[in-house]
Amino acid sequence: MPTPPATSGRLLYAQSGGVTAVINATAAGVIEAARAKGVPVYAARNGILGALREELIDTTKESKTAIAALRHTPGGAFGSCRYKLKSLEANRAEYERLIEVFRAHDIRWFLYNGGNDSADTALKISQLGKAMDYDIRCIGVPKTVDNDLAVTDCCPGFGSVAKYTAVSTLEASLDVASMADTSTKVFILEVMGRHAGWIAAAAGLAGEGTDEPPHLILFPERVFDEAAFLAKVKATVERVGWCTVVASEGIRNAEGRFLAEAGTRDAFGHTQLGGVAPVLAALVKEKLGYKYHWALPDYLQRSARHLASKTDAEQAYAVGQAAVDYALAGMNAVMPVIVRSSDAPYRWKVEPAALRSIANREKKMPRGFLTRDGFGITAAARRYLAPLIQGEAHPPHGSNGLPKYGRLKNTGVTKKLPTFEH
Ligand code: F6P
Repeated sequence: MPTPPATSGRLLYAQSGGVTAVINATAAGVIEAARAKGVPVYAARNGILGALREELIDTTKESKTAIAALRHTPGGAFGSCRYKLKSLEANRAEYERLIEVFRAHDIRWFLYNGGNDSADTALKISQLGKAMDYDIRCIGVPKTVDNDLAVTDCCPGFGSVAKYTAVSTLEASLDVASMADTSTKVFILEVMGRHAGWIAAAAGLAGEGTDEPPHLILFPERVFDEAAFLAKVKATVERVGWCTVVASEGIRNAEGRFLAEAGTRDAFGHTQLGGVAPVLAALVKEKLGYKYHWALPDYLQRSARHLASKTDAEQAYAVGQAAVDYALAGMNAVMPVIVRSSDAPYRWKVEPAALRSIANREKKMPRGFLTRDGFGITAAARRYLAPLIQGEAHPPHGSNGLPKYGRLKNTGVTKKLPTFEH
């Protein structure tokens, strides 16, 4: 018999993994929905680590205005983390500690806002209730600029980085076009996306037609072919006068090695990437002799709230609200996902999906989204991508000319338990 859902207690919300321009909009969705139902929300400081360390934040101390400002504030308001929980068998102590913290603070609902690794963590925690005889409902909430979560049509955070990337590609291309006669011939933009080329693909929205930028997109789904790359750059410069290249940080050579390994790994064992643009630029200079510029927007792309997509900001807020509805209705081990019913006009809704089918999976670009030569996007990709960057969601600006981003008090909850070594 399934246990009936709790009717009192607190909801714990935590942010995880790389943050986005709109993850705080999800936080606002969660907190505002819970407030409307009279449920107090705690937030974990720095993701699951805050739960393990009993470092909890009492969001009831924040004003309505402060929570509303989260909707237009980038970064992660409560801090995030990259920390992988081991299996229940491998580190039972960590799970027991989580339950101990949940019990001590009457946490009955746990919402974990992250990508595919975090969906796995949420799934493990959702199994705790049964294993440890504590009634906890756990919901994964989608977020990732990489857009690589399975099941959901798109991921909150992606639409905004996609817009930033398409706009930057367009603007930088106007610049290089002006300079090409006597100076720069090639511009290379490096974007995030370890194994999936969604962000790189979004650059393709900057122009249509062979002579419009970006002239080459390098996807992690395709092995990097140096000869074909150089031949296309050369042909483009000779025909158009200049060339814009957008490269995903995750492109690999025929041996399967990243072109841009930085040599470090994170807690999940992921290789730290960054630096493929200078590698490509050096190649262009050495083999073709063209003057180049390259750019690595890095964190700029995933924090660019000033250029957020309205669609993305709305979806981020909606999944936060839905997560609260699901949790309070007693659902467990699910994630609110975005379901598309039409491309044009763009129609979408939010539905629950099993975490089991999302955890640890990676959705790559479908083959039909890449052109035959592998350097561009198809009409099908454009149909998918175009609605996600629609609309502007400008943050309010102050008299100093800067966006007025919110800042929370983040009042800590008094600890009740001894310190935990992890
Ligand atoms: O979360 C996704 C992501 O933005 C990747 O695209 C990028 O490779 C990675 O995070 C960077 O992670 P970190 O901020 O931990 O270095």
